[in-house]
Amino acid sequence: MTTVIKGGTIVAADRSYEADILIEGETIKAIGPDLKGDTVIDAAGAYVMPGGIDPHTHLEMPFMGTTAAETWESGSFAALSGGTTMVVDFVIPGEDGMLAAFDAWAERSARQASGDYSFHMAVTGWSEKHFDEMEKVVARGVNTFKHFMAYKGALMVNDDEMFASFQRCAALGALPLVHAENGDIVAALQQKYMAEGRPGPESHAFSRPPEVEGEATNRAIMIADAAGVPVYIVHTSCEQAHEAIRRARQKGMRVYGEPLIQHLVLDEGEYFSKDWNYSAQRVMSPPFRNKSHQDSLWAGLAAGSLQVVATDHAAFTTAQKQFGLTDFTKIPNGTGGLEDRMPVLWTRGVETGRLTPNEFVAVTSTNIAQILNIYPQKGAILPGSDADLVVWDPTLTKTITAANQKSIIDYNVFEGIAVKGLPRYTISRGEVVWSDGQNSGPRPGRGKFIARKPFPAINRALSKWKELTAPRSVTRSPEHMPIGV
Ligand code: URP
Ligand code: ZN
Ligand code: ZN
Ligand code: ZN
Repeated sequence: MTTVIKGGTIVAADRSYEADILIEGETIKAIGPDLKGDTVIDAAGAYVMPGGIDPHTHLEMPFMGTTAAETWESGSFAALSGGTTMVVDFVIPGEDGMLAAFDAWAERSARQASGDYSFHMAVTGWSEKHFDEMEKVVARGVNTFKHFMAYKGALMVNDDEMFASFQRCAALGALPLVHAENGDIVAALQQKYMAEGRPGPESHAFSRPPEVEGEATNRAIMIADAAGVPVYIVHTSCEQAHEAIRRARQKGMRVYGEPLIQHLVLDEGEYFSKDWNYSAQRVMSPPFRNKSHQDSLWAGLAAGSLQVVATDHAAFTTAQKQFGLTDFTKIPNGTGGLEDRMPVLWTRGVETGRLTPNEFVAVTSTNIAQILNIYPQKGAILPGSDADLVVWDPTLTKTITAANQKSIIDYNVFEGIAVKGLPRYTISRGEVVWSDGQNSGPRPGRGKFIARKPFPAINRALSKWKELTAPRSVTRSPEHMPIGV
């Protein structure tokens, strides 16, 4: 069985050109003019782009005393409907450790996912068991380990634990990821606002100012440099964090930054609503920032100092948010965005001229595939690549509303935003899994786990440089030592 995508403009990260795409089975067979196939997908007037990859999701995540309501079934289908063909979800180990958590995630995703997926592993403490399990996790196809510098008393790790884990990443060819907020200061500020009798959701934002994120980002970068490993900062939300990343990159360090679509378009005013539910629904960490921070993030995407756009999709219902009705520190942290990331970024980025279509592809797919070491299987339109593609129709419009969303929660943080540019078709490994205006539904179990190999090149280069420039001890012969030693 072959399929040809006809008449579109291919938009890759490096160029745009007109050509047909021939798909055989699950992969791209050929690219060129006038190709023929058993079935034809019409791309006239549309762009054909690599399927979106969301590098940061939390489907069915146990967190803050509850579990994120978005399931693998609803979440992976929501992603496809918005042009995202692959998600990378965070495995959070419980008391039984990394491998047990990996099995639980693998079971839930294999049963329910409609699209492809991969995992990051969280390192939430440090011991010989962590050291040993990391190698087994890498053998299972995970080359990224996440560290939380916040969530004190729960997921947070201290500097010495991070340094140990980063060194282990360097040895294994893995990439450390970091949630960068100073967890001690956040906890202290939370206590302060509660003690002052200010339990509303706006205090969530007050307790996590940009400086708290900037400091932690600098610290994470310093620790990665000391360990001789690259580092990826998740949900970069502010100029202070962006500045740290920018400065490190100018100094030759491999540091990556990931703004979220939420932080690019929503601001801290969301927390000042008179409607408690409205503000609590938008509680996430880091919180939304003001416009100057948003401008910084957009500039970083254009300049290349920030590389990818994610969602951190962690979707809790309004009822779950109400666990924090009298105490903002108990509002489950997280917002959704899986199905809206691509259309909102296109509308606010490409339609405004802030991003080129090629930059859009880079930050939603190609850069992510390269950083996570799955390029060109994913993130590319090349012969041999998986046929994960979006036929993107720049004339399609809709107004985002929870009433019509695929996500199973009862609100949408982008409610009311009018988007222009949507998938006409989403294709996952050669199969049309979403087509605009047609009633397709989830296909639980068709998604595949995508194993990611360790990185040989970057880590080796960094560790070699580290060794060449390491402090050397001085050898002193007895005549240069004080008498009597
Ligand atoms: O508020 C957030 N971001 N919730 C999800 C967990 C995390 O910190 O990424
Ligand atoms: Zn986080
Ligand atoms: Zn997250
Ligand atoms: Zn001498």
